Amino acid sequence: MIPDEVVEQVREAADIVGIIGEYVPLKRTGADFRGPCPFHQGTRRNFSVSPAKRMYHCFVCSESGDVFKFLTKRLGMEWPEAVKLVGEKSGVEVVDTKVRREGPDPREPVWELHATAAAYFQKVLWDEAAGEPARAYLAERSVSRAVADDFGLGFAPREIGLMRSYLNALGFDDTRLLEAGLLATQDQESEPRPRFRGRLMFPIHDVLGRNVGFGGRLLGPGEPKYLNSSESPVFSKGKLLYALNRSRNAIRRADRALIVEGYFDALRVIASGIEEVVAPMGTAFTEVQAGLLRKYSRNVFLLYDSDPAGLKATFRAGDELLRQGFSVRVVTLPSGDDPDSYARAHGTAGLEAQISTAVDVFDRKIQILERAGWFGELQKKRRALDRLLPTIRATSDEIMRDLYIGRASEVTGVNREILLRELGTRPREAAVARETSRESTVPAVKPRPIAIRGRAISAEKELVRAMLQQRSRAESIAERVGPDSFTNRNYKAIFAALLRAGEEGPLEEVVASLRAEDVMVIEDLMGDAAGYVYPERTIEDSISLLHAREIENRMYEIQRLRPIADAAQQERLDAELLQLNNEIGRSGKGVAKTFRIPNRSVH
Ligand code: CTP
Ligand code: MN
Repeated sequence: MIPDEVVEQVREAADIVGIIGEYVPLKRTGADFRGPCPFHQGTRRNFSVSPAKRMYHCFVCSESGDVFKFLTKRLGMEWPEAVKLVGEKSGVEVVDTKVRREGPDPREPVWELHATAAAYFQKVLWDEAAGEPARAYLAERSVSRAVADDFGLGFAPREIGLMRSYLNALGFDDTRLLEAGLLATQDQESEPRPRFRGRLMFPIHDVLGRNVGFGGRLLGPGEPKYLNSSESPVFSKGKLLYALNRSRNAIRRADRALIVEGYFDALRVIASGIEEVVAPMGTAFTEVQAGLLRKYSRNVFLLYDSDPAGLKATFRAGDELLRQGFSVRVVTLPSGDDPDSYARAHGTAGLEAQISTAVDVFDRKIQILERAGWFGELQKKRRALDRLLPTIRATSDEIMRDLYIGRASEVTGVNREILLRELGTRPREAAVARETSRESTVPAVKPRPIAIRGRAISAEKELVRAMLQQRSRAESIAERVGPDSFTNRNYKAIFAALLRAGEEGPLEEVVASLRAEDVMVIEDLMGDAAGYVYPERTIEDSISLLHAREIENRMYEIQRLRPIADAAQQERLDAELLQLNNEIGRSGKGVAKTFRIPNRSVH
């Protein structure tokens, strides 16, 4: 049995026009939608669907009912199945409960409190003197009262006791306010204070329209610009999409979703008449968010900032969405604009025009790499591929994946088979696997990653210690290794500082130019080094080791470059590999004594 309130919820949530529209071509006529009746096989548009009444009706054959009845009659399915199907399409979980009846959701009291608080904030915004600055702010951003009310905007006053006494008077006690996070205490003793003060409040709803939290924006400069409800079982930013509760039917109908970054973007675009919009509220787009959206449409448009941070977020979101089978396009607004500012300045038509220039997310990536000249020189091409491959790997749709491989091959000039092989393995494994499988006259480099890499850190340490202990050594060491030979950031910084100070520079000066963490490392090393006389041998071995590591790194790189290189480039790489192989053999020999660590791997 499906509980009545669930059936009601599904009926409420269902986009009856969208669902019936899958079987009947519907056109808007006033408030309703009309089409030919599928029941008496009419050809005129006598069949009417009313989103307001959530009913359909044929004026000729008088067949009528709700969305469930339509599906049972049209598809011949059982009524409970119809409810489940519609539930699935509408994001309402339908559980057949003969056995379990769970009682009310424990989060209900918080939803209720939030809804009441939202009404309070709204009252402050419009009816009270305290709301004046927020009213001025909205006016300045061209947000009308009607739009603000549509989104339930409010204002949380700066004064400490107002919200509390208002809600207390309505029977919400402090314990509940604290639990919901509307009030917070510094410690046990202190008076509870409101979490949101002097902020424009955006109520945030889950997909079923329950008020699960708030986002609050400061009216002026300050940090943080936005403050959200704290994470809790009720409110979890990564599991919510702002505005989805109100836009999901539009998303289904339009079969597309625009993803914008924040509250104001969503508000503005929706208010301008494009309703199929959601915002992930400034977090990286999560798997859960993609899952929420999937039920309504598989076509998304990302409208993020076009600055580097925005692009990074775009591509991360893109990968997540591709993983879940979406088709992902990117809209690139003029730099400096976001959907809010753009829609405000250019209206719906302007924004639609921008959307119509959207580019597939993978093509966008290629475009950016191409414009920056990443497909020319071999080394860069390798790095460009390293950026494209993860996106191809993420793409779950086989056809898309295949298209992407084709595009990548076209733009890099690397053939499909090689790309497929690269896709099958992780980058490092790929290098090794290829090297061992390929027939070639070039020596197969058996990488010794742990052998050299682990020990090289000790070598960095030994060199820095030797230099600290005897400053006159610095120069001769520096002739043979540079700061770039170091990977540990403390040793690297200390090494560079010692070089800057020269042989005579007092240690205090060296120390003064370093971060606290580097100084701690120095103290450690000096303690160790006291009275210890360095065998020149250790220094020699350390230098050799760092050289060996550099050689090895280059050898890895060559192995990664080789498959994507043309014949002439391959020849050059092979020659270099041979030479490096000989060199590493030489420098490896001397190193063994000092740094061999039997039966123990190095951290
Ligand atoms: N955000 C947040 N916390 C911050 C900054 C941003 O939660 N400190 C979220 C908000 O949901 C915000 C979105 O990230 O709407 C985008 O941030 P940003 O681009 O800075 O804000 P806008 O939406 O452009 O806001 P405004 O136009 O008000 O500056
Ligand atoms: Mn903005």
